[in-house]
Amino acid sequence: MTISMNLNGAPTELDVKPNYTLHDALQFKLGLTGAKHMCNKGVCGSCAVIVDGRCVLSCQMLAVECDGSTVETVEGIAAQPKWKPLLDAYCKWDAMQCGYCTTGFVVTAKSLLDRNPHPTEQDCKEALSGNICICGTYPRHSQAIMEAALAMNP
Ligand code: FES
Ligand code: FES
Repeated sequence: MTISMNLNGAPTELDVKPNYTLHDALQFKLGLTGAKHMCNKGVCGSCAVIVDGRCVLSCQMLAVECDGSTVETVEGIAAQPKWKPLLDAYCKWDAMQCGYCTTGFVVTAKSLLDRNPHPTEQDCKEALSGNICICGTYPRHSQAIMEAALAMNP
């Protein structure tokens, strides 16, 4: 099936099998490896992307469901100067160890900051509650997000 989407700001058309997840399409059809495949069961958050402004798990959504949608991945977020403070804060606070979960956290954090430009620590914890890090980097994410929020919206 041919589907079209606005992907990271660019009109994109691609052929997918009906059973392809959005994650499959991003990785295998478009070569975007930022959304990670950790559990493939909808429990870890490492495959998070933003579809029509909503943070979703790309392993749990069919690609065909995204026909006509706007999709943002971590690659698109990283390419926008507006979000550099978020990436800088992640580096400064060293909010990663192996890094496998990090892109999912960054996408979820971006989605939070879209909704709430001044999140509290509790807001960050709640927003990130669906993201699992087996390296245990949890406290550093909230610090990074709150610092980025301050830099972006003083
Ligand atoms: S890989 Fe999608 S939630 Fe874990
Ligand atoms: S930094 Fe390793 S799983 Fe999170």
